[in-house]
Amino acid sequence: ESSQYQTITVDRATAPRVALITLNRPEALNALNAELISELVDAATTLDLDPDVGAIVLTGSDKAFAAGADIKQMQDMGYPQTYTDNLFAEADRLANLRTPLIAAVAGYALGGGCELAMLCDILIAADTAVFGQPEIKLGVIPGIGGSQRLARAVGKAVAMDLILTGRTMKADEAKQTGLASRVVPADQLLPTALEVAQTIGGYSKPATWMAKEAVNRAFETSLTEGIRFERRVFQAGFATADQSEGMAAFAEKRPPNFTHS
Ligand code: CAA
Repeated sequence: ESSQYQTITVDRATAPRVALITLNRPEALNALNAELISELVDAATTLDLDPDVGAIVLTGSDKAFAAGADIKQMQDMGYPQTYTDNLFAEADRLANLRTPLIAAVAGYALGGGCELAMLCDILIAADTAVFGQPEIKLGVIPGIGGSQRLARAVGKAVAMDLILTGRTMKADEAKQTGLASRVVPADQLLPTALEVAQTIGGYSKPATWMAKEAVNRAFETSLTEGIRFERRVFQAGFATADQSEGMAAFAEKRPPNFTHS
């Protein structure tokens, strides 16, 4: 099924209920050109609708998760084209997926690469990971949500520092500032990310979708409204077969058999 894509591969056999998307433009350190973004959006939105996929892992190579938007492709663009093409708006669709998305980041995650990792739900970094928003060095600013998501992830001071100076930060700083939830040795990156994805994929699909939606609401609304939203969604969970099963299994001291319904 990978063969339909030129710039990514899609693997369904790595772990139960898990899909692995690997960015694959090694000659450009996985720079995000229009083709790669379209293929990634196509693959991810297809997997999002697949009842047998409970979590998606997105990764790159050992050297680069992605070194940014494709500078050579953008170089000769003018404002009319970026506006009419709505440059990078397509990538927003990745943030609207309901399936949990895990970024497994080794090497460079710069510019659009850092932004792509940040629009995933969980970011796991190898100890080789290098993050940054160096667009300022090119005379522009982040364009796939970096100014907004980095500020929310690490706070104003660190976001301003990175975005205004263009400096990079290593995995340990990413962990310390809250951008990454875990840092692991490079050879453990994919096994760890797949294990996390398999764990999530094994839970009730409606519950994981509801949990993701509720956490994301925290970044869009006030605390009172967010809690009101959580409460309604929590209560709606009692309409699922998996709620009955999960609680019955606990009472009967046995593992649950979720049907994702
Ligand atoms: N776009 C296009 N090509 C890129 C690229 C990018 N973002 N990053 C790397 N490449 C290409 C290089 O041009 C090079 O190709 P050639 O062999 O044909 O010259 C190849 O990938 C290998 O790269 P390097 O030789 O530069 O590798 P290195 O190990 O010496 O350096 C690096 C690695 C520090 C990451 C360096 O490649 C680099 O600085 N890349 C650009 C990083 C950047 O500025 N990213 C932000 C892009 S703008 C953006 O993302 C906008 C947005 O917010 C949406």
